[in-house]
Amino acid sequence: MPRSTPSRRQFLVATGATLAGIAVSSSGFANFAPYYAHRRSRDPLPGNADPFTLGIASGSPTSNGFVLWTRLAPDPLAQDDATPGGIVSRHHAAGIALDYEIAIDPAMRHVLRQGTALAEAEHAYSVHLPVDGLASDRPYWYRFHLGPHSSPIGRAVTLPRAGRPAARLRLGLTSCANYERGYFSAYRHLTAEQPDLVLMLGDYIYEQVERHRPVLRRHSDNAVPTTLGGYRRRYAQYRLDPDLQNLHAAVPTLVTWDDHEVENDYAGDWSERFTPPEQFAQQRQAAYRAFYEHMPVRNRPHATGLDIYDSVTIGDLARISLLDGRQYRSRGACYAAPNQGGGHQVDSLTCPELLDPSRSILGWDQERWLGGNLATSPARWNIVAQNVIMAVLDSHDIEGKVTAWTDAWDGYPAARRRLLEQLTRTRNPVVFSGDIHSFWNNDLTLDGRAIASEFVTSSITSDGPPQAHLQSMMDAHSHVHFAESRQRGYSLAEIDGGTLTTHFRTISNVTDPKASLTTLRRFVIEDGRVGAVAV
Ligand SMILES: [Fe+2]
Repeated sequence: MPRSTPSRRQFLVATGATLAGIAVSSSGFANFAPYYAHRRSRDPLPGNADPFTLGIASGSPTSNGFVLWTRLAPDPLAQDDATPGGIVSRHHAAGIALDYEIAIDPAMRHVLRQGTALAEAEHAYSVHLPVDGLASDRPYWYRFHLGPHSSPIGRAVTLPRAGRPAARLRLGLTSCANYERGYFSAYRHLTAEQPDLVLMLGDYIYEQVERHRPVLRRHSDNAVPTTLGGYRRRYAQYRLDPDLQNLHAAVPTLVTWDDHEVENDYAGDWSERFTPPEQFAQQRQAAYRAFYEHMPVRNRPHATGLDIYDSVTIGDLARISLLDGRQYRSRGACYAAPNQGGGHQVDSLTCPELLDPSRSILGWDQERWLGGNLATSPARWNIVAQNVIMAVLDSHDIEGKVTAWTDAWDGYPAARRRLLEQLTRTRNPVVFSGDIHSFWNNDLTLDGRAIASEFVTSSITSDGPPQAHLQSMMDAHSHVHFAESRQRGYSLAEIDGGTLTTHFRTISNVTDPKASLTTLRRFVIEDGRVGAVAV
């Protein structure tokens, strides 16, 4: 998207839309009117502590708006679940009103909208403010105020309208940021690139705690979370990191999760440790709820989950389908033991369930949604962004036996085939993936024919698998063109009309908070051609 200064016409459109927007957002809080009368947002906070310790964020952009986020948390690592942030005690049922402003300039001299947002008590005093009625295809700046405190100023964007001309798009791609394994220099360098959007592909937090090796910095509770309070503190600790906080202030995000937002290698309702289903359901819901409370997402948690798959369309240039590959997936094929879940190696002779077409990694509702989303796309480039590697890494023997790792798309071959068949009818499909702490470029193939490219982005900090293992995958599979596990970093995808260029960016040292940046490799895909060329 061009980051131009607003034209006079855009300014007038935006200003005109503002008045309606205020009326809508005000009426949304009508039910809280008595509470607001009691506690106006200009009341000082008890103890006068800064409530904006976790920063701000924007996300879920549309052509006329976005979601703005903050969370009031003067004491974000406090152990007391009942009074997260320690701002007010639980008897203030609704929450706290705070003021917000949206401006058309970074210094916020030209405020075109202001109003009141609610930090919900039941959601750890988080704010999810949907904003609409703005002009398309331009940046906005925003901040919150509470008593004497003001948040930092953040930047949000609106997108070009679907189908309208759009010249350029720059996407950041991130995955796997284990706080204990290193510093978030990769996030810092990504912020400096000023991408239009960042797609976060999972393992934004890690629930695990390192027991056997030294760590650079320790997860706050030094314990694996299983409760709402535990997950809240984990997210809060990550959001206290200045590199991550600055990224969220500067760049809108679209966020999906992988497994570590809940528990390693879980599948739908099934825990890796085979925690009793009712107990795991509670743990999963606590984790999903804490995710909601810390992310600029539109949908609220419902009784049994949180629907986060989403799509954005950038003019006629790109449609991004952001998938949820964890919540709705069928149970992993042929669990290793009756009471043990998680990823493991199976073969199709002893585990015919692996090939069962009734199994899905996305769930049937999401598969249908994705099919429609791809079929109706007005865009030249169609991005599928999701959590785990999609390319075939399994092995076949001469008897036709398939041996596969169950936790990635190899564990759901029929679902993968359904998606790839859809991609044969999709214009310029490109898949972005995360999870395995290494950079990959693969062809996605159907019956031996390449039909799309996949780029896997490496981890922000998490340790990579042995390079020898990746080399054996390259040796065994001609569709795996590049695989490198020894570097941490992120990816940047630049789309103009005729090409999509993916840069694999690496940091010098994950243990150095001032790590420098280099480019490991660059790949170009041309409009209408299948396959990426290293340049
Ligand atoms: Fe990971």
